[in-house]
Amino acid sequence: MRYLTFALAKGRLAEKTMELFESVGFSCNEMKEKTRKLIFTNEDLKLKFFLAKASDVPTYVEYGAADIGVVGKDTLLEEKRNLYEVLNLGFGKCRMTVAGPKEMKYKLNSGQDLRVATKYPNIARDYFYHKKQQTVEIIKLNGSVELAPIVGLAEVIVDIVETGSTLKENGLVVLEEICPISARMVVNRVSMKMEYDRITDLIEKVKKVL
Ligand code: PRP
Repeated sequence: MRYLTFALAKGRLAEKTMELFESVGFSCNEMKEKTRKLIFTNEDLKLKFFLAKASDVPTYVEYGAADIGVVGKDTLLEEKRNLYEVLNLGFGKCRMTVAGPKEMKYKLNSGQDLRVATKYPNIARDYFYHKKQQTVEIIKLNGSVELAPIVGLAEVIVDIVETGSTLKENGLVVLEEICPISARMVVNRVSMKMEYDRITDLIEKVKKVL
């Protein structure tokens, strides 16, 4: 039997995922030890798990380096990789939004020039260019995006909001909702055929406990 390989977005999402997998018997004791290791195995069940940066998870799965991935819908929408999205796992819930100072609510729909700062340029482009049919300038940032409207880099941001406290503590508000976000299970297209039984068994077991 070959290994079934999982790519998990490191951090809280991976922890929640392993709790869920453990509850359906796909456990990995090696992962519970405090270590700098990146890859863990369950020799009995022939499972391999590795932790990757969230934005790289869809890449590992598309190329078949991992058969299965667990990552946020935000990353899937941004990376636009060719893979199967098979399950909404329900945790890691947040919202993709347009946010900024509340005065920008008017400017957002006034047709005036607008700069949008974001870690998600593809999502921002899809939303403004295709959904709203509005031309805006998109500025790519890599983090702490809430800074941009405060220091005058952009009028608004496109970003995820979970508790809302980052916006609130920086005097910003949600101006428009783009879409809800949560963790998803994704599968490589070839793996889905080659390992159909093992993968559908996992999907069915997870569905039952969700
Ligand atoms: C995310 C997101 C917001 C914040 C939202 O950033 O980009 O900044 O969390 O969470 P809240 O609504 O609960 O305050 P992250 O913590 O990933 O850091 P980053 O901005 O450096 O990417």
